[in-house]
Amino acid sequence: MSMSHTYSRRHALWLSAGLLVACRDRQSSADASAPLAPPSPPTPTSTPSPALTTAASGATPSCIETHANIEGPYYRAGAPERSSLTDPGVAGVPIDIQGRVTGLDCGRGLAGVELDVWHATHDGHYDNDGTMHLGRERFLLRGRLRTDAEGRYRVSTIVPGRYLNGPQYRPAHVHVKVRARGFAELTTQLYFPDDPYNDIDPFIHRSLVMGMEKAKERALGHFDFVLRPA
Ligand SMILES: [Fe+2]
Repeated sequence: MSMSHTYSRRHALWLSAGLLVACRDRQSSADASAPLAPPSPPTPTSTPSPALTTAASGATPSCIETHANIEGPYYRAGAPERSSLTDPGVAGVPIDIQGRVTGLDCGRGLAGVELDVWHATHDGHYDNDGTMHLGRERFLLRGRLRTDAEGRYRVSTIVPGRYLNGPQYRPAHVHVKVRARGFAELTTQLYFPDDPYNDIDPFIHRSLVMGMEKAKERALGHFDFVLRPA
């Protein structure tokens, strides 16, 4: 399925580090009580109520193959190998996303798995959406990293902004391709709890909402990937 992204209106993501205190276990009840997303994007001051929790597990459901999600039009191959996607001068709320990659048995973590990660800037731009003038060699907010010997990964970046897809904003999301020898390549997206556009987005799958907690000065997202054999 293809998307046509337009950029006539943008706004900064309302999420702040202080609001990124949520976990997926509470998300369902928070969503049930939350009103549907407004027809127009909230202003930066119209802060939705966060789903507060102190639970730190935040782990994604295990032993279920991770749901695939659309690639979208902004993937670029050949991103640099790095676990920190930010560069000097890149604005945004800092966040780390971490987790583990396993097979369907959710057993031993898979070492050396490549995660190819890309996402929008804090105000909803990609480096190849025609709004920036970067050198060809520049990969803004993109990077490839590998899991360690225990199958764990950690990527440091900033919270992406929403952007218009036709008349409607997409919820904030992080694109990922996961490549492991002997397993089917996975292309998916990770989403943030409490984003009001999660409720109306036609592409999101609820299982892809990260667990989230606040860790010192940085937000911390959790997501475990489960791959099926090739
Ligand atoms: Fe996207």
